[in-house]
Amino acid sequence: MSPLPLDKTLRRWEAALRSAGSDEAQTEARLLAAHFTGLPLGDVPLSLDRPLDDDVLAAADAILADRARHVPLPYLLGDAWFLGLRFRVDPRVLIPRPETELLAEAAIAWLRTNPKAAVADIGTGSGCLALSIAHFRPACRVYATDLSDDALALARENAADLGVADRVTLLQGDLLGPLRAEGIADSLEAVISNPPYVTEAEYADAQPELLHEPRGALVAGPTGFEVMDRLVAELATLPNLRFVGLEIGATQGPSALLLARENLPDWRFEVRGDYAGHDRLLIGTRP
Ligand SMILES: C[S@@+](CC[C@H](N)C(=O)[O-])C[C@H]1O[C@@H](n2cnc3c(N)ncnc32)[C@H](O)[C@@H]1O
Repeated sequence: MSPLPLDKTLRRWEAALRSAGSDEAQTEARLLAAHFTGLPLGDVPLSLDRPLDDDVLAAADAILADRARHVPLPYLLGDAWFLGLRFRVDPRVLIPRPETELLAEAAIAWLRTNPKAAVADIGTGSGCLALSIAHFRPACRVYATDLSDDALALARENAADLGVADRVTLLQGDLLGPLRAEGIADSLEAVISNPPYVTEAEYADAQPELLHEPRGALVAGPTGFEVMDRLVAELATLPNLRFVGLEIGATQGPSALLLARENLPDWRFEVRGDYAGHDRLLIGTRP
């Protein structure tokens, strides 16, 4: 059989993904195409007459079958994109989300005027926040912690892939504990974190794709504030801290603001929204 052109294949993949329940069928079909052709994602719609061979179509069909069982596409492809950088992902880590790029961008913007700051990312997972900061702000000293050894192993691979391994220190342990143990905590000038903030009730109702991601990366406890409460209390003990950026849940803005103002009363805090207009970031600076 002669090879099928990409446009026909894209339409077929998109239909298959839509019937598998994907809300992002067109984007996911293009990600599949980029994966199999090696094209940059943005070039896929410009290459519609490019032929795809039978072996590629068979490999894509196997991925689509797993996708129909609600396995998230980035786990099936083995990678995800964050601020234009490629991160390996697998079920040891949360898949980096586009909303989290807003947190990285806020930190990178603050670091423009503080280019040599010591920065920590708490709960680094794939390393998307810490490693993108190390990439875009190469003079910073970057530290990252995670409770999960498995996540840190993958973050180490990503650090090596991105060529930043010598500028990022990855430590296992609870919140800022390992940084305190290593004598690093007091030097920190910026801390960012996308902590677990999903409630147990939200998780019980979650879409099936979420159940493939590590529960410990998502669920904080009954209120959703269990990890954030402890983290913000720890931040208040850091003598040189001047920037805080936390990702929060869509309904957590007012309570997160209260929590931050109670613990860091001299600071300026604001809640920022995401692309959908939901509360998503708590940003604080010390005047
Ligand atoms: C929501 S994920 C964020 C991962 C990554 N930073 C991102 O934005 O995609 C939360 C991460 O925090 C880690 N974690 C959960 N509780 C923690 C704790 N008490 N101390 C350190 N890390 C923790 C999880 O293992 C997970 O990797």
